[in-house]
Amino acid sequence: MADDVITLENVKIERDGGVTFIILNRPEKRNAMSPQLHMDMCDALDWAEMDDQTRVVIITGAGGNFCAGQDLKLYFRGTEDDPKLRVKARRAAHEWRWNRLSSFPKATIAMVHGYCFGGGFTPVIACDFAIAADNAVFGLSEVNWGVIPGGLVAWAVTNVLGYRDAIYYSVTGDQFTGKEAGAMKFVNKSVPLEKLREETMILARKLEAKSPAAVKYTKEALRSVRGLSKEQALDYLDAKHDALKLNDPEKGREKALKQFLDEKTFKPGLGEFKR
Ligand code: COA
Repeated sequence: MADDVITLENVKIERDGGVTFIILNRPEKRNAMSPQLHMDMCDALDWAEMDDQTRVVIITGAGGNFCAGQDLKLYFRGTEDDPKLRVKARRAAHEWRWNRLSSFPKATIAMVHGYCFGGGFTPVIACDFAIAADNAVFGLSEVNWGVIPGGLVAWAVTNVLGYRDAIYYSVTGDQFTGKEAGAMKFVNKSVPLEKLREETMILARKLEAKSPAAVKYTKEALRSVRGLSKEQALDYLDAKHDALKLNDPEKGREKALKQFLDEKTFKPGLGEFKR
């Protein structure tokens, strides 16, 4: 069972060992993202980044839904006559959903149940992993109310979906299920709803056991090489490899080599070294 750690106005943080749940917490509004929720999410991610105990972050929504997208009332209509609040909300919305999550130094998992619409896609894509309930409902619903998938949504979906699927779902606004999301690799996999938390925790525990420095550097390496040429990638990865060797406070590489080569107590091909 997770312990309550912090309750912000629109976000709740719970912790289960090294696994921290950051929970969008406006269940009565299907976790639609208000300006306050965006600001709370920035604070929650700050907290989880600095929290020594947190190894893995799971982003999810309260009340059986992930997120109904931007709050059409509070985010859009509510900021129409308040340009300063709009700027603040827009900045916070982009900051946590993309900037912070996509460069988060610890492993991140989106655990999706119920509805996930529009702007709710961005954090799912920005997380390292996503697991959905088979019956989750995803939709790029923007076209249904006469707008485009804004913020970074249109850009982000083309990073994870094939182009035909990205266009199809953006232009038709058709929904797709968690199961279909798994088949399209929009999420890593989908599982029956009653198994969602358990399956997500299995992945979280697996990530929790790895060297934190190796997880951080591996994530950074994969994200960064995507836009590079082969030559740039080789140079960058060599430098990254050396940087990890120098900066890992646990000196994991040395420990692991000793355990494999000298002590013969572990096999890197079959699991992680003893930290
Ligand atoms: N913005 C503002 N309010 C929202 C919202 C959103 N994106 N999504 C849900 N809500 C509010 C509803 O207005 C309602 O408020 P009320 O109780 O004060 O009337 C409450 O949340 C519950 O929503 P409701 O529509 O009654 O629940 P439902 O379970 O029948 O339907 C949805 C859920 C998500 C299918 C439906 O609310 C919906 O289509 N929301 C908009 C989704 C969307 O297109 N988001 C993209 C924005 S970019």
